[in-house]
Amino acid sequence: MSKEQATNKETKGAAAGGGLRSIESITPPQILEELKSGVLGQDAALKFVSVAIYKHTTGKVPGNIILIGNSGTGKTTIMNNIQRLYNELPEYAPFRSIAIINANLLVDSDRMEFRPERLLTAVEQRARSVIGHPPTASELKEAMERATICVDEIDKMSSILAGKPNAIGVALQQGLLTLTEGDRVPIKTHVMVNGEEKLATIEIDTKGMMFICGGAFEGLYDQVFSRVTNPSSGESLRSVAVRNADGQVTIEVRFSLADYFKIEDLFTYGMVPQFIARLDNVVLLSELAVDSLKSILMRALDSPFLRSKRYLNVMGIDLEIEDLAASILAEQAEKHSRTGARALRTIFSKIINPIEFDPWGSGALEDAEGNRKRLLVTAPMVRRALGL
Ligand SMILES: Nc1ncnc2c1ncn2[C@@H]1O[C@H](COP(=O)(O)OP(=O)(O)OP(=O)(O)O)[C@@H](O)[C@H]1O
Ligand SMILES: [Mg+2]
Repeated sequence: MSKEQATNKETKGAAAGGGLRSIESITPPQILEELKSGVLGQDAALKFVSVAIYKHTTGKVPGNIILIGNSGTGKTTIMNNIQRLYNELPEYAPFRSIAIINANLLVDSDRMEFRPERLLTAVEQRARSVIGHPPTASELKEAMERATICVDEIDKMSSILAGKPNAIGVALQQGLLTLTEGDRVPIKTHVMVNGEEKLATIEIDTKGMMFICGGAFEGLYDQVFSRVTNPSSGESLRSVAVRNADGQVTIEVRFSLADYFKIEDLFTYGMVPQFIARLDNVVLLSELAVDSLKSILMRALDSPFLRSKRYLNVMGIDLEIEDLAASILAEQAEKHSRTGARALRTIFSKIINPIEFDPWGSGALEDAEGNRKRLLVTAPMVRRALGL
């Protein structure tokens, strides 16, 4: 068991023993450790997320953030893991109302309007299922007012689209801005009054909610690159000395978004400055390198390998993978950098699909202990399946 798992067990054990920790005592580094079991290779971004969660759960300061990163690097995964964190730690029970929703669902494109009630309906449904019994108005209000709202694909709601003004994007951003500032939104719903369910209007104050926005912001990379390389910008790309395998040193110019990104770049992209100003931090996710992709394949909670392992386990087969085979898979996935970790699933499925269909016919089963079988995915199997 890793040290990290051991501490998780201890803390959860202590909580199950009745003594809940205080919310303040669950520090950002502890939150980070929890999140890291489901999100790999994004520690820098997760530190911001951990701080945001600490701010939100202790209720003193708003912890709103925006996550920016290429497709398949883990934005939606981070949102799902915040939900998992809330569900797994008993201390976070009051914060379990979380809505993860795509930005385009929050606007009515015919009427060009922001529709906050769609967000609140999602929060309400979640709050009701967390409460677990027909709630009173105050129970529902309390659960909803501590909600975490994850607005995904926010970049699709830019105020400029293909060089033209995008009114719907402005409507969404203005609407979210109002919510993050703290709005009172009335909702009509059924609540318990003196033991009877009645229709009532309750006012939900959004001031204490946490907002986590996310988007790939395709084109931002090129936009910042052109800004930096424009002779009139006064900026220039930094060069680094790189020594290659045969000992030669070359001077290379490297561009990474994180080194040059300025908040104004988001305004140029089409984000409304007042909206961005309401966010505590703009968090850039990293590109996933081969070693991160390899750990995602082997260890991420919903990794394609672990999924197949669970599936084959039902048939009495223990699925294993050679280290070299996993490295080749990760390397191949990295070559498809446009889809990030999603490429792992596509590539792994080429190898595993025929095996999942008929493991006994795969010719790769070996006898294992106690009537079970073992199936080892080897490097030659991977090469053959991928035509390498
Ligand atoms: N950092 C990561 N840690 C663990 N798994 C990851 C990570 N990044 C991506 N994945 C895996 O890859 C898949 C796609 O990731 P995710 O949906 O989080 O991407 P995204 O950043 O939201 O991309 P998009 O911009 O296309 O929506 C998921 O199945 C997830 O399991
Ligand atoms: Mg996503």
